[in-house]
Amino acid sequence: MHLSVFSYILRYLAGIQLLMEFSLLTLLYIIASVSFILGLKMLSSPEKARRGNQLAGFGMALAIVGTIFLYSDEETLQLGNLGWIFGGLALGSGAGWLMAKKVKMTAMPEMVSLFNGMGGACALIISAAEMHHMVSHSVSLSINGTERIYDPLFDLAPGMMLVMVAGLVIGGVSFAGSVVAWAKLNGRVKDLSFRGQTWFNLLLLLFVLAFAAFIVASMPTAEGYLSGNMVTMFYLLIPLALLYGILFVMPIGGADMPVVISLLNSFTGVAAACAGFLYNNKAMLTGGILVGAAGTLLTILMCRAMNRSLMNVLIGSFGGHKHDHAATTTAGSVKQVQLSDASMVLAYASKVYIVPGYGLAVAQAQHACNDLEKLLVQRGVDVKYAIHPVAGRMPGHMNVLLAESDVAYDKLIEMDDANAEMPHTDVVLVLGANDVVNPAAKTDTESPIYGMPILEVDKARMVIVNKRSMKPGYAGIDNLLFYQPKTSMLFGDAKKVLQDLIAEIKNI
Ligand code: TAP
Repeated sequence: MHLSVFSYILRYLAGIQLLMEFSLLTLLYIIASVSFILGLKMLSSPEKARRGNQLAGFGMALAIVGTIFLYSDEETLQLGNLGWIFGGLALGSGAGWLMAKKVKMTAMPEMVSLFNGMGGACALIISAAEMHHMVSHSVSLSINGTERIYDPLFDLAPGMMLVMVAGLVIGGVSFAGSVVAWAKLNGRVKDLSFRGQTWFNLLLLLFVLAFAAFIVASMPTAEGYLSGNMVTMFYLLIPLALLYGILFVMPIGGADMPVVISLLNSFTGVAAACAGFLYNNKAMLTGGILVGAAGTLLTILMCRAMNRSLMNVLIGSFGGHKHDHAATTTAGSVKQVQLSDASMVLAYASKVYIVPGYGLAVAQAQHACNDLEKLLVQRGVDVKYAIHPVAGRMPGHMNVLLAESDVAYDKLIEMDDANAEMPHTDVVLVLGANDVVNPAAKTDTESPIYGMPILEVDKARMVIVNKRSMKPGYAGIDNLLFYQPKTSMLFGDAKKVLQDLIAEIKNI
């Protein structure tokens, strides 16, 4: 009697403990998911972006630590291999921290691409490891002369094989595509396309999808048997997905790379969500879905900002044939302005708009730019920044760059609002921007940027353009703005020019 009561109490306590462990882990996953969502929301405002990133990072740490110490199931009870897990975590975190510390702002898209590729690789490895796990818990049987694998442990829920195959294929494409994008952005690999590549890619994609669908439909059979050949076929999907990822990104022009990186980012999110399904891990699932959705939205927004369809980005030639168009559109001569004259014009203006572009980031002239702004404001000039959504080389590039030098956020004016103010602006100072102020986008139907909304700086009373030469911007085309009567060119490196302007204005 006493014994049975004792064992009842023990079982009751064990039950509570099991329940508590389960609840605590679930609670941690919920906190992590909420922090991902709030963190993502905060990223949309420059003031809160840093804290948003920290919050999402905290949520991820919580989910990881919770999984390591609180996860248990009937088979493994508790996670083992803690040495390997913490070793991997230390290695990955250390490498990521170092890279993020050292990266130059202009090389940010490369780093994002590489990190994204790692996510894709993880999803691929998870699917492959789960297949290996299934097979290594199986016994091989010969049934009617055919070699089959019977897996008594793996109770495959419907759709699980679909999730495994999807994680493998999408993760593989994302990994290979992101590594190619990284190598292209840092100049290690050049654009490569061959005749009929679009059709070849399409056929390859259809083949990979059909092959994947065949594998999903064929294994495991209803009796719980896996054919040995099917397992080999599953692994064969890996090189096919990698090949497609390489061929998909290889021909895409450099200027379109940020769009492709964002698209691949959304692929990685979907692949991670597949892995979340596979492990029934809610935090991984939520994180994957959020990355997938955010990447897709960003891709759409970027395409809209350039007024191009995603299909056009993927198979179009924008930025691919850089100087072809430049040769045919050069229109007359340009007017230059002396530094002393430019400083006079700026110092005595009442309203000045600064248009930052990729060249400002290259010159690392953001601090000098802020100094000039402060100096002009001291003299009573109203100074603002006109921000084009695709200025620079990544979404929000100019916001991040200017935030680095403590430019007040309310001075950063979005394109449509800035355009409305252009007719009432005395001087526009274009600093290392080119495509985003090119009127050809509105007037030249042959131009590869035709249809892209631009900053209409030619509506202001005077435009001063700073760049080093007459070389084109990323789209590889000449800029009609430079030849207009109200435009004056101020050649030189943006940082040096800004410092000289500051020195001149101080002497006025
Ligand atoms: P660009 O059109 O690339 O022009 C940058 C200009 O900066 C160049 O003409 C260059 O001329 C000048 N420059 C370079 N280094 C300089 C320095 N040290 N000092 C002064 N000037 C310097 O830049 P943008 O107007 O920012 O346009 C961005 C382009 O990227 C667009 O074509 C856009 O569609 C594309 N893109 C952007 C994104 C995102 S999300 N941002 C995504 C996809 C595509 P010099 O060599 O003569 O100095």
